[in-house]
Amino acid sequence: MAEELIIAKTSDKKEKYDTLLPQLALLVSGETDLIANLANIVAALKQTMNFFWVGFYLVKQEQLVLGPFQGPVACTRIGFGKGVCGTSWKEQCITLVPDVEQFPGHIACSSASKSEIVLPAMVNGQVVMVLDVDSNVLNDFDEIDETALQEVMYLVEKVYSN
Ligand code: SME
Repeated sequence: MAEELIIAKTSDKKEKYDTLLPQLALLVSGETDLIANLANIVAALKQTMNFFWVGFYLVKQEQLVLGPFQGPVACTRIGFGKGVCGTSWKEQCITLVPDVEQFPGHIACSSASKSEIVLPAMVNGQVVMVLDVDSNVLNDFDEIDETALQEVMYLVEKVYSN
């Protein structure tokens, strides 16, 4: 596809996600390199949803290691079960945190981050990476984000397996 993203001119985030999701599939369709595809996926998420921070942490030798991201610099390694990301890895499920200060063990890469959602990508029953999205607004994520970002993760799982 042409490397230009169409962004819905609306304040409705579901409409934005609905416009974005088919474009993401096209964006990765001609490329087999994992990092190139993850880089474009986070760039498209940032451009469309204007997240404060969005990025991938990849499972490497029993740690999560920072991958492609958009936003302020971040911590590079997270242990199994540590922070929100490590919790999603350990529990193999989505972790939605309305107020990061209320989450025991939250890892504060930026003091501006107030709420967060983390989704794991599963391949052959194993978590291979997580997507972390941070907001500088409290309670900024809901079921709309959860459902749309889960679709992104299904695409990521396909991309990973290619
Ligand atoms: N807050 C995350 C760490 C990653 S940064 O937010 C980018 C956590 O608790 O796992």
